[in-house]
Amino acid sequence: MQGYTHSGPVDCNKPFDVGNIKGKTAIVTGGANGIGEAYVRALVAAGARVCIGDLDVERGSKLAQELHGTKFISCDITQWNDQVHLFREAVTFSQSGNISYVVANAGVFRQDEVFSYSGDNQEPEEPSLALIDVNIKGALYTAKLAAHYFIRQNGQQISPKQEDTCLVLIGSGAAFLDCPRAPQYCASKWAMRGIMHSLRRTASFYGSRVNIISPWYVKTNILSDDVFAHVSKVGVEFAQAEDAGQCLLRILSDVSINGHSLFVSGRKWAPNIGYMDLDLEDYPANALIQEIQEDQMKSAPVSLGLFV
Ligand SMILES: NC(=O)c1ccc[n+]([C@@H]2O[C@H](COP(=O)([O-])OP(=O)(O)OC[C@H]3O[C@@H](n4cnc5c(N)ncnc54)[C@H](O)[C@@H]3O)[C@@H](O)[C@H]2O)c1
Repeated sequence: MQGYTHSGPVDCNKPFDVGNIKGKTAIVTGGANGIGEAYVRALVAAGARVCIGDLDVERGSKLAQELHGTKFISCDITQWNDQVHLFREAVTFSQSGNISYVVANAGVFRQDEVFSYSGDNQEPEEPSLALIDVNIKGALYTAKLAAHYFIRQNGQQISPKQEDTCLVLIGSGAAFLDCPRAPQYCASKWAMRGIMHSLRRTASFYGSRVNIISPWYVKTNILSDDVFAHVSKVGVEFAQAEDAGQCLLRILSDVSINGHSLFVSGRKWAPNIGYMDLDLEDYPANALIQEIQEDQMKSAPVSLGLFV
């Protein structure tokens, strides 16, 4: 496994071979519906075994019944013990006892009480930050457990014996674009990039990688029918959940992909495949940022007290 070096954008038009995914075990949180379901279907088609962790017991159980090689575990990702249970069940479900891939997909969108105005004659009300609990706290629990199992399987010394593992975090257009009226959702999706930037230089010590998939608008249950109708009406083209599934398979198939975020853009911007690497995560043309980053690495080198 190679450490992090900026090597330019991933060529998403290059053919890829899913052979190395066959027989591996993956966890997909929020895999019962929407884009998560598309990740599950893509993984199953590539021959992986998949543990689906989701709040939606009805849909999750139905999907697991339909798809051979999947198991549904009822899980609220905001609850640490639920996620511990999910990972334990995945180990039992895995033929090798290993977990290879973790997709931290579960996420919600809510009307943002941080943004809303309480009124001229009103005291401001304490906003609900429940979205942060799901989208950041839940994803951090998933990241912690993924690293735990990856380290347990691979140790902490880079060696050719380590089997590839990968954590995939889910961003959004809201992870890099201006999206008015949604400070919590945007904060939560930018946060995925923060987690990725913090982990991408140390993941190789335990034979791992960390990447982000950021979908553009995909018609799912995350937003209301009215919102999606408006998006259609103003002529904005949707991205497709199936393209997100293929994007995931590309990331998992190519062990050289570490520290990237791929944008599931829809076919308008990425004909034929529907996703692309916007090369958002580095600033190769900015010599000053490179110099500051070098000083940052001097002050906090990757090899210093890796897990303390
Ligand atoms: N659909 C879009 O337009 C879009 C765009 C960008 C990013 N995303 C991101 O993609 C991911 C999936 O979104 P989607 O559009 O498929 O949404 P969705 O609402 O269709 O599916 C989300 C799934 O997550 C599950 N879930 C929600 N809270 C949970 C919790 N606390 N614990 C466990 N499971 C929980 C739901 O039950 C559901 O199965 C999210 O992280 C979302 O932010 C979606």
